[in-house]
Amino acid sequence: MAATIKTAEEIEKMRVAGKLASEVLTMITPYVKKGVTTDELNTICHDYIVNEQGATPAPLNYGEPPFPKSICTSVNHCICHGIPSDKKLKDGDIINIDVTVIKDGYHGDTSKMFIVGKPSILAERLVRVTQECLYNAIKEVKPGMRLGDIGHLCQTHAEAHNYSIVREYCGHGIGKHFHEDPQIVHYGKPGTGEELVPGMCFTIEPMVNAGKRYSKILPDQWTVVTKDRSLSAQWEHTLLVTETGVEVLTLREEEDLPRVINHD
Ligand code: MF3
Ligand code: CO
Ligand code: CO
Repeated sequence: MAATIKTAEEIEKMRVAGKLASEVLTMITPYVKKGVTTDELNTICHDYIVNEQGATPAPLNYGEPPFPKSICTSVNHCICHGIPSDKKLKDGDIINIDVTVIKDGYHGDTSKMFIVGKPSILAERLVRVTQECLYNAIKEVKPGMRLGDIGHLCQTHAEAHNYSIVREYCGHGIGKHFHEDPQIVHYGKPGTGEELVPGMCFTIEPMVNAGKRYSKILPDQWTVVTKDRSLSAQWEHTLLVTETGVEVLTLREEEDLPRVINHD
């Protein structure tokens, strides 16, 4: 199935959903501290999404078996889909919080990394390089770019730093559904794959391991971890392809990235 092209009305709803998702990450930031449990972070996000935003947390009951919480919290060697629990964050932990909200029938999906307490040089570098993978790809998005170009930009930057790109999980089209076509993989060859066209909405969400790329799923059937227990980082934005470039629908104020990029 091909990507759906959003109408002007749908794009406006994607802007609203994207803004709400970004605001959840901004809201939760001061709570991400040593001693807090990931379940407490889940409850704060859930209540904010439902009561303040009048929106729905998309992860809750998503998939099979149903995901049991409203956000994903992926700590240290957890690659993605970490389930909030009563485990406390400790000094030096790295954590990805992934937020997806549904508002007026449309989804906004975004995640960011946090470093708890004093960052180690190693953790700081992994987290920074992973964000650069995302930003390098976003900065080139425009009609005519191909999916292989996105993958190649992520992969070359990660591998230049001796990190590896996770292959089993990827970005995705997004809209009325959480996960739509096409799949956006974070590795590949330039000049290959589907061409981007105006009105497409999709995520880029590179997962980068400090060690080897291999992953495994824990018996809870959700939590994905690195096979070699190396640290893993991820950042995610929801994007709209415009006539001339890209709009970052989930941009936060703290970010050093333009919300709209025009290539002509
Ligand atoms: N938010 C994730 C993504 O970026 C998907 C999480 S699925 C869940 O695609 F069920 F774990 F929430
Ligand atoms: Co996500
Ligand atoms: Co996503």
